[in-house]
Amino acid sequence: MDFEERYEKCSQLLHKYNQQHLLTFWGELNKNSRDKLLKQIEELDFKSLDEKISRYVKSSAGAQLPENFAPAPAYPSQPKTAEQKGKYAEAKKFGTELISNGKVAAFTVAGGQGTRLGFDGPKGDFAISPVKNKTLFRLFAEMIKAAGEKYNFQPRWYIMTSPQNHTQTCEIFKNNNFYGLQSRDIFIFQQGTEVNFSSDGKILLAEKDALATSPDGHGGSLKALFESGTVVDMKKLGIEYISYFQVDNPLINIFDPLFIGLHAMDNAEMSSKALTKAGPLEKVGNFCLADGKVTVIEYSDLSKELAEKKNGDGSLVFSLGSIAIHIISRSFVEQLNTGGFALPYHKAVKKIPHVDIRNGDKIESQKPDGIKLETFVFDALPLTKKSIILETIRSEEFAPVKNAIGTDSPQVAKKMMIDRAALWLSQAGIKIPKKPDGLIDCRIEIAPSFALCMEDITEKKDKIPQIKPGDTVYIS
Ligand code: UTP
Repeated sequence: MDFEERYEKCSQLLHKYNQQHLLTFWGELNKNSRDKLLKQIEELDFKSLDEKISRYVKSSAGAQLPENFAPAPAYPSQPKTAEQKGKYAEAKKFGTELISNGKVAAFTVAGGQGTRLGFDGPKGDFAISPVKNKTLFRLFAEMIKAAGEKYNFQPRWYIMTSPQNHTQTCEIFKNNNFYGLQSRDIFIFQQGTEVNFSSDGKILLAEKDALATSPDGHGGSLKALFESGTVVDMKKLGIEYISYFQVDNPLINIFDPLFIGLHAMDNAEMSSKALTKAGPLEKVGNFCLADGKVTVIEYSDLSKELAEKKNGDGSLVFSLGSIAIHIISRSFVEQLNTGGFALPYHKAVKKIPHVDIRNGDKIESQKPDGIKLETFVFDALPLTKKSIILETIRSEEFAPVKNAIGTDSPQVAKKMMIDRAALWLSQAGIKIPKKPDGLIDCRIEIAPSFALCMEDITEKKDKIPQIKPGDTVYIS
């Protein structure tokens, strides 16, 4: 098709769908810009556009809640009955075998824009460790390398980026020599994007020749794993389980034999770790059971009354929060993508810089008034035949770096990293100096190569120096 024909076709489609404003600056564009703009328009999914706009962009209704739902059952963090003790021991053994046999790969979703943190660059490059100032990417790389040594396998690490941060992320890895891993063992691929809208359903222009777009949410990983050829790569290598985690959690336990073992023994397709919410209104999704399926209901969609509802013993009825840690079976990703699937969209109202159609000026909105549509990975849980939940302990596994200050900030995460290190050491019998008010009086960081979990410390106890009040200690 020549240029004129392409333009004509796009123009007709845009008219039909009330988006003709996208060609406002056509007369000012050179050949390259025209081609760039047409390509983006040609890639739009016009069939779903009207529904997307009416159901998600213009509607202020939250997610559609299932008619009936109850709290989801979960495996407790510690086994309670003799039967459970037996199952946990078996699962740990099985999980260890799966890891050692190279059946499990690490998968980081790192395509987000990290706007709340306000860090200039991919979030994985944010320095977080309390003594050595290691970045999130470095920490994960060291954990993965250490797991390879501990379980004697060649670990593979998949990382999802977005068009917005892909090049920068690849450069960071190159500039850091892949943090001591083999470059061939790291596979970085990009997720898809969604166009941004104004509140009246018009697609925004980022430039006169470019639509405004943003990454399609962490739910986009389930498509991107397939479309990028990642699952084919996994299949070739015999990888069956994907250990999914977010780029912002420095306490992640990437290769957890118990979690992996339980998932595999129960023939689950996608499983989750959960923690007991800090309070009824904590801003995490709630694990529920609807029509027999594990479903996450967002905090904003659960009524205050239900969120605060208590059991006879005073505990919350909906007590389990989602922390974005999953084991996903490779076969589940393949099945979803060959069967045709769509996750629902979630709308986020954000400040989105865009071009003013009236005069071509760039608008930097002062208040959030643009609309992003994202899919969430946990919305795939109800699509599974089987899904299990394992409860975990916050101080052991979850310190998300989301905000510049306050809750979920780097300051909180660093303190949690020190606290966890201190707990591991004290459980192994090492004395941790404390201030009179009981707070820890030292700064400690444990290198992943030294210990990946509390049990690893016990074996190396003799190598740990005495820690004095006020000390800064790096244990490696
Ligand atoms: P968040 O929900 O924290 O979003 O992502 P974000 O974009 O990183 O940060 P804000 O909301 O702009 O402050 C949770 C995890 O999902 C990944 C993020 O990189 C993070 O690991 N993510 C999010 C993606 O990989 N792609 C996306 O489109 C969105």
